Amino acid sequence: MFKKLVTGAAFALALIPAASFAAGGGEQHIEDFQFSFEGPFGSFDQNQLQRGLQIYTEVCSACHGLELVPIRTLADEGGPQLPEDQVRAYASDNFSVYDAELDDDRPAKPTDNFPGSALETAPDLSLMAKARAGFHGPYGLGINQIVKGMGGAEYIASLLSGYTGETKEEAGTTFYENKAFPGGWIAMAPPLSDEQVEFIDGHANDLHHLSEDISAFLMWTAEPKMMDRKQAGLVGVLFLILLSVLLYLTNKRLWAPHKGKKLH
Ligand code: HEC
Repeated sequence: MFKKLVTGAAFALALIPAASFAAGGGEQHIEDFQFSFEGPFGSFDQNQLQRGLQIYTEVCSACHGLELVPIRTLADEGGPQLPEDQVRAYASDNFSVYDAELDDDRPAKPTDNFPGSALETAPDLSLMAKARAGFHGPYGLGINQIVKGMGGAEYIASLLSGYTGETKEEAGTTFYENKAFPGGWIAMAPPLSDEQVEFIDGHANDLHHLSEDISAFLMWTAEPKMMDRKQAGLVGVLFLILLSVLLYLTNKRLWAPHKGKKLH
C-alpha cells in the first residue's frame, strides 16, 4: 500500500514539469531560464540587477515606463543596491519630471518614481513580471513556481529572445512573429539583439544574457521584497518544525505515567 502511494506520488510529480505550460496556451513556447532568485533559498544577483537596470535605461525606457517604482529603491538592500550618490546622479542624468510647484520640468530626484511609458501603446513594466506569472494549469499546482520559478521572468526572457524574424502588416501596423507571445504576433519590434548593450565589466551581452538580465531586473521591480518574504517563510517553517518537536515531547511526557499501565 505504502509503496503504491509513493510510486503514485512520484509519477504525479514527474508529470508536473511536462504539463506546466502545455496547459497555458497552445503553441506558446516558454523557455526555462535559470534565475538566481528561484527556489526557496534563491536571491537576486545584485550585479545582474545592475545590468538589467542599464538595459532598461538604454533600451526599454524609450517606450516603457516603470511608474510604480521609486527611484530611491535602487539603493535598497537586496536590489541593485547602488550607492546613494550614484542613485542621485542616475535620477537627474536620465529622467526629468514635471513639478507642479515650479510649473516646469526639473531633473528627477531619488524621491521621484520612474516616469510612465513614453509610448502610449507600450504597457508600464513595473508589475509585468507578476502580471505574466500565469497559473500553471491543473497539473502545475504552483509547485513549479517554487522549484523552477517558471513564471513572469521566464515569460519576459522568452519573449525577448523568441522572435522568429517574420513580420506581417495588418491595418497599417507591423506585427512581429514571436514564439512566446500568446497568439504568436506582437506589435513590439525586437527590442534587443546581440551585443546591443555594453557592460563596463565586459559581462556576456549576447541576446540570451541580455534577455535574462532585464527579466531579472523586472522581477525585482515587480517584487522587490521577495527575499524578505522567502526569509520570513523559512523562519516560519523552522518555527513550526521546532513547535512540532516540542509538542511531541510534551505529549509523551504528559502521558508517560499512564502508558504501559494495565486497565483493570
Ligand atoms: C519602440 C518601442 C518599444 C521598446 C524600445 C520596447 N518595447 Fe516592449 N512593447 C512595446 C509595445 C508597443 C508593446 C505592446 C505590444 C503588443 O501588445 O502587441 C510592448 C510590449 C511589451 C511587453 C508585454 C508583452 C505582453 O505579454 O503583453 C513586454 C514584457 C515588453 N514590451 C518588454 C520590453 C522590454 C524588456 C524592453 C527593453 C529590452 C522593451 N519592451 C522595449 C514597445 C516597445
